[in-house]
Amino acid sequence: MIETKGLTKRFGTLTAVDNLTLKVNEGEVFGFLGPNGAGKTTTVRMLCCLISKTSGEARIADYDVGKEADALKIRKLIGLVPDTVGLYDDLSAYDNLDFYGKLYGCTETQRKENIQRFLTMLGLWEKRDAIAGTFSKGMKQKLAIARALIHEPELLFMDEPTANLDPESAKTVRDFILGLKKEKKTIFLNTHNLDEAQRVCDRIGILSTKLLATGTPQELERALSSGGGARRTVVLLQEQATDAMLAGLRQLTGVGSVTVEGNKLDVTLSDPDKQNAAVIEAIVKAGGHIQSVTIAGASLEDVYLKLVREGGS
Ligand SMILES: Nc1ncnc2c1ncn2[C@@H]1O[C@H](COP(=O)(O)OP(=O)(O)OP(=O)(O)O)[C@@H](O)[C@H]1O
Ligand SMILES: [Mg+2]
Repeated sequence: MIETKGLTKRFGTLTAVDNLTLKVNEGEVFGFLGPNGAGKTTTVRMLCCLISKTSGEARIADYDVGKEADALKIRKLIGLVPDTVGLYDDLSAYDNLDFYGKLYGCTETQRKENIQRFLTMLGLWEKRDAIAGTFSKGMKQKLAIARALIHEPELLFMDEPTANLDPESAKTVRDFILGLKKEKKTIFLNTHNLDEAQRVCDRIGILSTKLLATGTPQELERALSSGGGARRTVVLLQEQATDAMLAGLRQLTGVGSVTVEGNKLDVTLSDPDKQNAAVIEAIVKAGGHIQSVTIAGASLEDVYLKLVREGGS
């Protein structure tokens, strides 16, 4: 659905996106992660034909980004929830959507049906006649999501759609994204929320001007765990951890950090599969009663922080 080769954007001397080669498949939710200024919004703007690319190639479905004759076709195929919401503040919620629907050439019936459907799904139907300028940030954000969908695009770009939302609204939007995924829509999601990325995305790309990694969340975690990244053993005790247990653990070879939280011991190890027996023995010797032992791999957060710190601009 999206394919880029060496896509690059420079603003004067600043390279915002450097040589991005990426593929997003049809029906996939692709999460784009990266620190502030990484080039995520710039990438989305290029793909949505809002700004020109400096070099490289990008295709959306069968169309060429940057080819004037294809720009309108691409725009019809895509919807964009931009990072700044930009609604008509003096129009009602309903009229904002109706206006965009007309702009996209939707029929009256299609507009009516879709406005009701999306406003209802996002919990804004009761507010349809209220003026958008009076909406809270979160309500505006949801209205922008409905607006991006009014012409039933196959591909939806969302630039931090839950950034302004309270936890409950963020969940509504995440569930909404999962619903769109069931409808086989392709979604390109810029986000800073690693937990969100893990929950809704099939694959993730980590950008810091250059693309640092792509893969499913599990693939990224596994790559870090097996590539010498920290693995941990988490031991739950039947009692509070004691200083004797800590001292015993710290004497073992291959043990990195040991952290304690009540009856939970979190031990960093070079090879937990081999070292767990010694860990258990040390705890039992110090008088501990073990409830459970689990090996924890690297989290998506570990992967993200490692990649961005090592490869960051
Ligand atoms: N119109 C512009 N003119 C000049 N520089 C720009 C312009 N737009 C973006 N940039 C620069 O390009 C870089 C990438 O910005 P971009 O907005 O794409 O980052 P981002 O990954 O979306 O960051 P954030 O997470 O903060 O939204 C930044 O250094 C930014 O200052
Ligand atoms: Mg951005």
